[in-house]
Amino acid sequence: MSVRRRTLLKVIVLGDSGVGKTSLMNQYVHKKFSQQYKATIGADFVTKELQIDDKLVTLQVWDTAGQERFQSLGVAFYRGADCCVLVYDVNVLRSFDTLDNWHEEFLKQASPSDPKTFPFILLGNKVDIDGGNSRVVSEKKAKDWCASKGSIPYFETSAKEDYNVDAAFLCVAKSALANE
Ligand code: GTP
Ligand code: MG
Repeated sequence: MSVRRRTLLKVIVLGDSGVGKTSLMNQYVHKKFSQQYKATIGADFVTKELQIDDKLVTLQVWDTAGQERFQSLGVAFYRGADCCVLVYDVNVLRSFDTLDNWHEEFLKQASPSDPKTFPFILLGNKVDIDGGNSRVVSEKKAKDWCASKGSIPYFETSAKEDYNVDAAFLCVAKSALANE
């Protein structure tokens, strides 16, 4: 029997308040969704064990506060991150427009050795709302943004309907592992 090393992968989830960061993580880890909004204060993490090819990995996913007054994260928090997940709400333009700031802020704080190849993933959440009729950011616009940052993978998700959530986090885990 071969001895397998378990790899710990640190993932940080960023994005405006209310876009569904906590909901996506709850759906991914606990298979639960709540309509009720409870603002995240500071940061907290959940873990999930995964097998990727022949490797056992522990995904440590850090949920953060979108509301500025609840953000209290120092540089140390970002250090050692293996992947950064950016989330916006496809129905709220502002949450898309602020992606540049979140992206920039992460790179500034985490200062990865190679910012150009550091793995980010973008999630466009809440695609379930009004059957997609109330969305204001098109898939093309989101993909163009991803291309402009150097081919960031993009997933459209619904934490409510559990749409694409597993697929998105599998991509997160693979990207983090590849960067580790
Ligand atoms: P902060 O903690 O303030 O940064 O917010 P957050 O990004 O963690 O948002 P949260 O997950 O708390 O979700 C905000 C609200 O949106 C809640 O009322 C959720 O029920 C709702 N919500 C989250 N994801 C979805 C989704 O995919 N579809 C729908 N319809 N509602 C969602
Ligand atoms: Mg939250």
